Amino acid sequence: NTRSRLVMGNWKMHGNLAQNATLLAGLCAAPRSASGALLAVCVPFPYLAQAAEALKGTTISWGAQDISAQAQGAFTGEVSGSMLSDFGCRWALVGHSERRSLHGETDQLVADKAQAALASGITPVVCVGESLAERDAGQAVAVITRQLAPILALGADAVKKMVVAYEPVWAIGTGRTASPEQAQEVHAAIRAALAAAGAGNIQILYGGSVKASNAASLFAMPDIDGALVGGASLVAEDFVAIAA
Ligand code: G3H
Repeated sequence: NTRSRLVMGNWKMHGNLAQNATLLAGLCAAPRSASGALLAVCVPFPYLAQAAEALKGTTISWGAQDISAQAQGAFTGEVSGSMLSDFGCRWALVGHSERRSLHGETDQLVADKAQAALASGITPVVCVGESLAERDAGQAVAVITRQLAPILALGADAVKKMVVAYEPVWAIGTGRTASPEQAQEVHAAIRAALAAAGAGNIQILYGGSVKASNAASLFAMPDIDGALVGGASLVAEDFVAIAA
């Protein structure tokens, strides 16, 4: 396919100034991948400025792990799109399964966050994925279709500016990766839903225990355009090897 490959790290709530400095320096020093994959990291809010500074002048971009659906106002603890774009933020994860399950984010709120990101010139990376119980019940595609519905309702022009990440909840941080065929099956369904909404050519990333040893077989699938990487994004060599 003609879509470029994107390998995005999600540091989650890990790191500190010293560890981040080592990790970011390691990313900057690593040889660029032969595959031409674009690297990106999504860092905790307090370290956005550190990432911006460390990655300045490199091809590695950075983003946030969440964004407020609101533009401004009395929303204590929230971070707006304009605050993020002040620092040059390129990406914002929205609807990560940990936000959905631990913080009660609804499909509609996730779509509102995606819209807020676009309003600030930030590319939302819309995370979707089914639980193990939902997969076992044969509901994987139905769940993802439901999660995507308010996103697709934003219209083709908006969706064309987004990235989707498919992360089966049962594969996150468990060491249990979806097989390339399992992932491709869902990616194809997502692609079909996006195509029906007029945005069939956006990047769809796979996430869930991606590491260098399983990345190539996932990337060989026609509808897998890259990865959203948790644990393996915390060590520079491991992360860079995924994009090799
Ligand atoms: O956003 C990243 C995912 O939650 C995957 O995390 O690579 O540690 O399984 P993981």
